[in-house]
Amino acid sequence: MKILLLGRNGQLGWELQRSLAPLGELVAPGRAERGDLSQIGELTDMAYESGAQVIVNAAAYTAVDRAQDPAEQDVCMDVNAGAPAALAMVARETGALLVHYSSDYVFDGSGHEPRDEEASPGADSVYGESKAAGDFSIETSGCAHLILRTSWVYGARGGNFAKTMLRLAQERDELKVVSDQVGAPTGAELLADVTAHMIRHTLVNPALSGLYNVVASGETSWHGYAQHVIERARAAGLPIRVAPEALRAIPTSDYPTPAVRPLNSRLSTEKLRRQFGLTLPHWTVGVNRMLDEVLSR
Ligand SMILES: NC(=O)c1ccc[n+]([C@@H]2O[C@H](COP(=O)([O-])OP(=O)(O)OC[C@H]3O[C@@H](n4cnc5c(N)ncnc54)[C@H](OP(=O)(O)O)[C@@H]3O)[C@@H](O)[C@H]2O)c1
Repeated sequence: MKILLLGRNGQLGWELQRSLAPLGELVAPGRAERGDLSQIGELTDMAYESGAQVIVNAAAYTAVDRAQDPAEQDVCMDVNAGAPAALAMVARETGALLVHYSSDYVFDGSGHEPRDEEASPGADSVYGESKAAGDFSIETSGCAHLILRTSWVYGARGGNFAKTMLRLAQERDELKVVSDQVGAPTGAELLADVTAHMIRHTLVNPALSGLYNVVASGETSWHGYAQHVIERARAAGLPIRVAPEALRAIPTSDYPTPAVRPLNSRLSTEKLRRQFGLTLPHWTVGVNRMLDEVLSR
């Protein structure tokens, strides 16, 4: 079986290179190898010619704040909405399974309950709108697909929120972190492993095709996440300067950003459990693993 992977160098793409390898022959073109999602004609030709039975799109325009700049909006829409729509057409015509990733940012973040897969999108940011448009194109295209909607993704490779907190906690006496945005930090490693599992089962049972929320269990705020990371690092002997009471919780209104973030990023994973029999570990499990790796370096 041939698998076409786009976005090989992103947090998730990097882990997918590992988790998809045992499933078949993995082809992962870079942007210069007709894998640029803003060049939709070339991308479409490449996808047809690849002869892939599975197309996994881990590439996305993810600069959430930059996407608010009017000069960036076209490219954001091309990459996050136009390219997925084109890939869905290729998948429909070739019979390939298309795997794609969605975001909690497709919602306005109102309420306090976890959203399920039936919830209507209503994004407050250009990035969120572009992701919702990509999801809609795939869902209405008639192609076999898996859309994994996730939140607060981190990878061990490259920068992430936890590493930033570790650095700042060693440099500063006080830190202020937003405490009214709630969600579940989800590891790229976990997402990649779940993707491989879902692909295997969906190829055998195409009725599993659809949109699924895929996030770690439990919930926290960015402040709670920072607290967890910093206290674990302190316990491991890292020279943390910030005292526990100097890690201050602030509302989103005190930390304005160009793109509005949802306050409620809770996603229900009941459908994933029902259809695939998967119960994902608590968010601290993956974060602790990542911290153990980072702290042992
Ligand atoms: N990160 C999160 O918190 C989060 C939350 C919810 C959902 N998601 C979704 O999860 C998926 C994976 O995200 P991630 O965290 O792995 O993102 P990431 O680390 O930012 O990686 C995105 C990848 O897309 C590539 N890319 C951007 N524009 C491209 C283009 N025009 N052509 C080809 N490749 C392009 C980037 O390439 P370069 O490295 O060359 O720029 C990068 O490798 C995305 O669909 C994202 O929307 C992410």
